[in-house]
Amino acid sequence: MTPAIPRQPEPELMDLDEEAAAYAVADFAEVNDRFVRRLLELVGPVESARAVDLGTGPGDIPIRMVRARPSWHVTAVDGSPAMLDLARRAVEGAGLSASIELVLGDAKALSLPPGGFDVVFSNSILHHINDVDPLWAGVRRLAKPGALVLLRDLARPSSREIAREIVERNSGDESDLLKEEFYRSLLAAYTPDEVREQLDRAGLSALDVEMVSDRHLDVFGRLP
Ligand SMILES: C[S@@+](CC[C@H](N)C(=O)[O-])C[C@H]1O[C@@H](n2cnc3c(N)ncnc32)[C@H](O)[C@@H]1O
Repeated sequence: MTPAIPRQPEPELMDLDEEAAAYAVADFAEVNDRFVRRLLELVGPVESARAVDLGTGPGDIPIRMVRARPSWHVTAVDGSPAMLDLARRAVEGAGLSASIELVLGDAKALSLPPGGFDVVFSNSILHHINDVDPLWAGVRRLAKPGALVLLRDLARPSSREIAREIVERNSGDESDLLKEEFYRSLLAAYTPDEVREQLDRAGLSALDVEMVSDRHLDVFGRLP
């Protein structure tokens, strides 16, 4: 396999107001819907569950999840006050404040109850994080025995040219700011092999890593 280009880290939190706002108005309906369908498929017919979403951003995924499973309770965490404000408005607007609790916090150091969650999920946080070991330790700590985990993120392509092609193919009419962020995010992402090493280090080898599109990898499975 062609070796991937070196990883180029990007800032962890999306805490500039304009950055958060640009992200929130972008049309992620289809990708978010695909994420929720994948989560529902993996979790099966579980009507009632406590879930945690790490790096919830504008909160669209928990809203979709609770609409699909109205008895679920989701704790939605983000470290960016600007993003969490947007999430709060979206959750209140959807009338789902009783089912979705918003928490400002660092996903690498959360003081949420250990073993408190049947489902741990996250979309697009991993590439933001340089010090990944505490994130995976947190996933392990928050999950109940037998919990389902689904973490989806970008995977770093093998060249900058391929990264540009991926951006052009998948960005539609998005703003130049978002296209540039997408490109930088691809370069900041981890490869499937790097993620497998992270999971082994964290004692999470029970989880699988799989490429699910030209740009996304899934980490998924049930913990022992
Ligand atoms: C690309 S956005 C994805 C948002 C959302 N999951 C979605 O799919 O629409 C990544 C989010 O993760 C948040 N984030 C990054 N590092 C974090 C950390 N260590 N703790 C909590 N949130 C973090 C960022 O502030 C941002 O809102």
